[in-house]
Amino acid sequence: VTRNGEVVVKESRLGLRFADQPELGKGFTLVSEERGRRDETWEQPWGERRLVRDHHEELQLHFEDTNGRRFDLRVRAFDDGVAFRYEVPAQPGFEQVHIVDELTEFELPKDSTAWWIPGRRYNRYEYLYHATGLGEIETAHTPMTVRTPNGTHISIHEAALTDYAGFVLDQRRDRVFQTNLTPWSDGIRVKTAAPFKTPWRTLQLADDAVGLLNSSLILNLNEPNALGDVSWVEPGKYVGIWWAMHIRNRTWGSGPIHGATTAETKRYMDFAAKYGFDGVLVEGWNIGWDGDWVQNGDLFSFTQPYPDFDIRAVADYGREKGVRLIGHHETSGNVTNYARQMDAAFDLYESAGVRQVKTGYVADGGNIKRVDESGVVHYEWHDGQFTIGEYLRSVTAAAQRKISINTHEPVKDTGLRRTYPNWISREGAKGQEFNAWGNPPNPPEHEAILAYTRLLAGPMDFTPGIFDLAPFGMDSIYRVQTTLAKQLALYVTIYSPIQMAADLPENYESRPDALQFIVDVPTDWEESIALAGEVGDYVVFARRERGGDDWYLGAITDEAARQQEITLDFLEDGRAYIAHIYRDGFHANWKTNPYALEIEAREVRRGDVLPLRLAPGGGAAVRFEAGPAQ
Ligand code: NOJ
Ligand code: CA
Repeated sequence: VTRNGEVVVKESRLGLRFADQPELGKGFTLVSEERGRRDETWEQPWGERRLVRDHHEELQLHFEDTNGRRFDLRVRAFDDGVAFRYEVPAQPGFEQVHIVDELTEFELPKDSTAWWIPGRRYNRYEYLYHATGLGEIETAHTPMTVRTPNGTHISIHEAALTDYAGFVLDQRRDRVFQTNLTPWSDGIRVKTAAPFKTPWRTLQLADDAVGLLNSSLILNLNEPNALGDVSWVEPGKYVGIWWAMHIRNRTWGSGPIHGATTAETKRYMDFAAKYGFDGVLVEGWNIGWDGDWVQNGDLFSFTQPYPDFDIRAVADYGREKGVRLIGHHETSGNVTNYARQMDAAFDLYESAGVRQVKTGYVADGGNIKRVDESGVVHYEWHDGQFTIGEYLRSVTAAAQRKISINTHEPVKDTGLRRTYPNWISREGAKGQEFNAWGNPPNPPEHEAILAYTRLLAGPMDFTPGIFDLAPFGMDSIYRVQTTLAKQLALYVTIYSPIQMAADLPENYESRPDALQFIVDVPTDWEESIALAGEVGDYVVFARRERGGDDWYLGAITDEAARQQEITLDFLEDGRAYIAHIYRDGFHANWKTNPYALEIEAREVRRGDVLPLRLAPGGGAAVRFEAGPAQ
């Protein structure tokens, strides 16, 4: 792969290996090729931008060996990157296919820097990112971000991962990374039958860090919406009985401080209604949480509430106030227990008017419990072919009831929201929860790395908006390592069509000034523009609300203070806007003075320069309220 004269991926190997026949790759010759191109613009039902342009050239290469065995390589070149996949047509001997290895390799340029998390480890995708030379990497999850000595930025990932295994990048030789497919518990990587196609192997390419953020390559490589009318998929903001458990004020299990009670849910619903939040998430409502819930995968009921939680009563109470109950299914990794109850579980929520369910798959990597038809137990990976199928099963079963799914402990996002728009968000990185108990909590650079790594894959349910930044005191290591202004900015820098306001109602009511930004900020956008940034240092985004004229801006920095001069050339020409600016106070610092917040309103126009001073661990959030159209 060559870009502007720079070789970004040197000639690298391709191929597939099987359990019971010779590989596809070695010994094949190119017999013919076809070319095509596309330039079309399609519309997202919800998203970071409404309109997406898919503009690419395509080359399909047909390969054959002397025995007449065939496969194709389909390649697409976009302005913002390239992608390819293997396509294996139906042919004798491929009625049942066991892939034992995919040989795809990427040889990357010398002296590149990478931002990466380790692959195939117990904590799934929940690791702090490393910024190192390529030599430090053994295996890495994707998206992995690489900067070459020329300053070209590369993101290696995959698109449209269904009915196949995910891969980790495995450094086989210096700078040569292989797509190491996640195996089933029996060692086979993929069980399929021809015809089949692999997911797209993708390279996003840009001149600078920000260029990666303005690319829609992953979405463009996914299939169009398969669900038809999805007007029932509802972006929005939510609160929930959640952080209280993470900071140990409440419990998921039953007892004197059980969180999911009818009364507590109504209290959250009152708060939600007062400030215009759309939903209230309730975790710990169902039988199975008592004791060490991480080990309770066999015990969870997804239909039986604890006696102090009246699901009908709270759903009805919410409906009267215009607030929906948001459902929760924690599997603790026993997907068979979940699959057996799934229809009944979604029926119950559907009948209660629930439109969104958060799912959870807390289990160590390689510990997803699968019970086969003979009752034998097997343990699988979250990103293996089996579990990938189970995640999608939950999404399609939910779609039949007009329910959207927010998956925690998911498989990595590969853009399937385009095909299944009710797969509304997911976790898949260290989120806010780590600040309550993670060893270590998220450092100030974390969200400035996420923007250029995890978030290239798709929306993340990070759960921003913590206002009490030191729930265990300023001396505890379990602190949120940001300023208050940065918590607000995260609503703009982290894209998700659903965003939680994660803190307790009482902590919001003690800062109504800051809360106003969360009340105002939308979660669905007409357009999004990354304006400035460097991987791991800072990022500035501007987004225009869907169906409106207001713009929002979020800027966040790592541990370093930073001065940013933002030219407001995204605003509409000739129109006046009131900029409501929420910025770090003069002496703000995440460590010593995180609450210093200055709020100012001033009139601005297109072309004005807005100076923003970001404190160490700080940020700025701005709402540009549009004046009358010209
Ligand atoms: C892990 C999820 O990420 C978290 O949000 C949730 O509270 C717990 N699992 C319990 O389901
Ligand atoms: Ca989690």
